[in-house]
Amino acid sequence: MVSSRRQEQPPFSHPTTAARWWSKDSVAIVTGANKGIGYALVKRFAELGLTVVLTARNQSRGLQAMDSLKVLGLDHHVRFCQLDISDPASICSFVSWFRSRFVAFDILVILPIWTQVNNAAVCFNAMNENKLDHAETVINTNYYGTKHFTEAMLPLFRRSASMSRILNISSRLGTLDKLNNPQMKAILGDTEILSEDGIDRVVNTFLEDVKEGRWRTKGWPKIWTDYSVAKLALNAYSQVLARRYKGVVSVNSFCPGFTQTGMTDGKGKHSADDAAEMAAAVVVLPSSVLSTGKFYAGSTTRGICSKL
Ligand SMILES: NC(=O)c1ccc[n+]([C@@H]2O[C@H](COP(=O)([O-])OP(=O)(O)OC[C@H]3O[C@@H](n4cnc5c(N)ncnc54)[C@H](OP(=O)(O)O)[C@@H]3O)[C@@H](O)[C@H]2O)c1
Repeated sequence: MVSSRRQEQPPFSHPTTAARWWSKDSVAIVTGANKGIGYALVKRFAELGLTVVLTARNQSRGLQAMDSLKVLGLDHHVRFCQLDISDPASICSFVSWFRSRFVAFDILVILPIWTQVNNAAVCFNAMNENKLDHAETVINTNYYGTKHFTEAMLPLFRRSASMSRILNISSRLGTLDKLNNPQMKAILGDTEILSEDGIDRVVNTFLEDVKEGRWRTKGWPKIWTDYSVAKLALNAYSQVLARRYKGVVSVNSFCPGFTQTGMTDGKGKHSADDAAEMAAAVVVLPSSVLSTGKFYAGSTTRGICSKL
């Protein structure tokens, strides 16, 4: 699991089109891409020359985003498909749509890389609030939605860790030091025995504590508690996936830092475009330096650091 006490490695630089080793035949899927960091990521991938699948849970908001890309002249290699990660039927339709365009005879037609950026998330609190009225929706979207979508797509990934990449957009709010519950920390902290069942047990215990009105005394994270627990679970899930698919798919997490988007009421230290540039840098790392199971954290002043 992620620990903020671990040694940071030096930041690495942002990619430029001059240094590109990928092509328009490389495809990146971005969830929750009609606005915020997701939309900025689609723009950045398009600028870098990848083919991008822009997804949005709401068809018309997704199409509006496509229109904006058109105005910028960046829509050429961008495709749109509706995707609500919290809706199994929507995930199923997306997989069929994707298969029909990019997969033939169970082999991905698109080369050389295929990336899935799990960006979509919800948060129902304003900056200084910590209400848990929507805890179940937050967990179901941010953790289970991401997990279910990833599971649906994994059979389609090329079996090559240098080519197949998953980046989970996470948060420092979901690092293990924010959790002050010894039992839950023991489950998430032991990366050797960490399992999906263990993560689900933590999440279910949290939802039970919310239902019973005792969550304040149980050592759960203090800021944006439901969101932070979902990110804790997502970080742990990234670790499980990275271990399970070692040598097959590279799985990393990325915290964009405090970013000016709808989620933060427009407050933040940098723009969504800045955050997207840093996330894209992780996605297009050359395979010689690409690792798996890392938690990358970005800020425009310090660059990008790996915290594992
Ligand atoms: N902003 C920050 O400071 C910050 C810091 C750390 C981490 N993050 C993470 O960065 C990512 C992007 O956040 P943001 O700041 O760009 O927030 P945002 O502007 O609120 O964007 C969130 C996106 O997720 C979509 N979404 C929500 N539920 C969905 C679902 N069920 N299925 C598909 N899409 C769904 C939203 O669609 P609608 O427009 O339809 O609602 C929207 O496109 C999130 O994972 C967030 O946790 C953000």
